Amino acid sequence: MLRVQGVSKHFGGLHAVEKASFDVPQGLITSMIGPNGAGKTTLFNVISGLLPQTEGRITFKGTDITGWPPHRIVAAGMGRTFQSLEYFDNLNVVENVIASRFCRTGSSLLESILGLPRDWRERRNNRQVAEELLEWVGLQDRMYFMPTELSYGMQRRLEVARALATEPDMMMMDEPTAGLTQSIVEGLMELIGRLKEMGKTIFLIEHNMNVVMSISDKVVVMNFGEMLAEGSPAEVQANPEVVDAYLGVRV
Ligand SMILES: Nc1ncnc2c1ncn2[C@@H]1O[C@H](COP(=O)(O)OP(=O)(O)OP(=O)(O)O)[C@@H](O)[C@H]1O
Ligand SMILES: [Mg+2]
Repeated sequence: MLRVQGVSKHFGGLHAVEKASFDVPQGLITSMIGPNGAGKTTLFNVISGLLPQTEGRITFKGTDITGWPPHRIVAAGMGRTFQSLEYFDNLNVVENVIASRFCRTGSSLLESILGLPRDWRERRNNRQVAEELLEWVGLQDRMYFMPTELSYGMQRRLEVARALATEPDMMMMDEPTAGLTQSIVEGLMELIGRLKEMGKTIFLIEHNMNVVMSISDKVVVMNFGEMLAEGSPAEVQANPEVVDAYLGVRV
């Protein structure tokens, strides 16, 4: 689904990402782990077009997307959630999801302003899709809440619904379970499992080792901007370098 080849991102002299190369296989859950500051979010930002890479190539569904702007990458089927939650805080929950559908909406600004039939149909359709997505993530009772009125776990679910609204083939999630209590983490893991069942490819950044080891098909380990290892959860856990650099103790 995704191929990262020799990708580096330097901020001046700081090598945030240095020659990362790995694949994210289609239909599976791949997790990226590594200590704070290892370059994980930076690599996500480069892959999703938010930051230009210093060198390297990124291929998505067989197309070289290196240097594409973010909206074009979203339209190609790459959705993502953010480590810091991103939503419009002046829009309610359902409006936030509708706003994410912009890239799947064909009517022009003029058609919207004039309220031409294609625009009505799209609006009705966008609203219906948004409501279905909110039901799917378990927010059907909170459609008219403002995002700030939601618990943190619910805000994470809103992020998932917003990303799904772009109709992605691959969902990238930056620390979806950060700051959540165990019972809420389990609900989110169940949601991620359902995404996989839907046929989505999942690419996560995750710190919670229980989550990583139980749901991942593949794990990529970053350390100081470099890739330390990749493999199945069992392979990564048994890798002495990974244990020394990151896991600390053998688990
Ligand atoms: N826009 C930027 N300008 C300069 N340096 C940056 C920028 N973004 C990130 N960095 C630096 O790049 C390095 C990697 O940061 P990054 O946020 O990618 O790490 P991370 O692996 O996501 O960490 P965490 O687990 O804490 O989220 C850090 O040293 C960070 O300070
Ligand atoms: Mg990060």
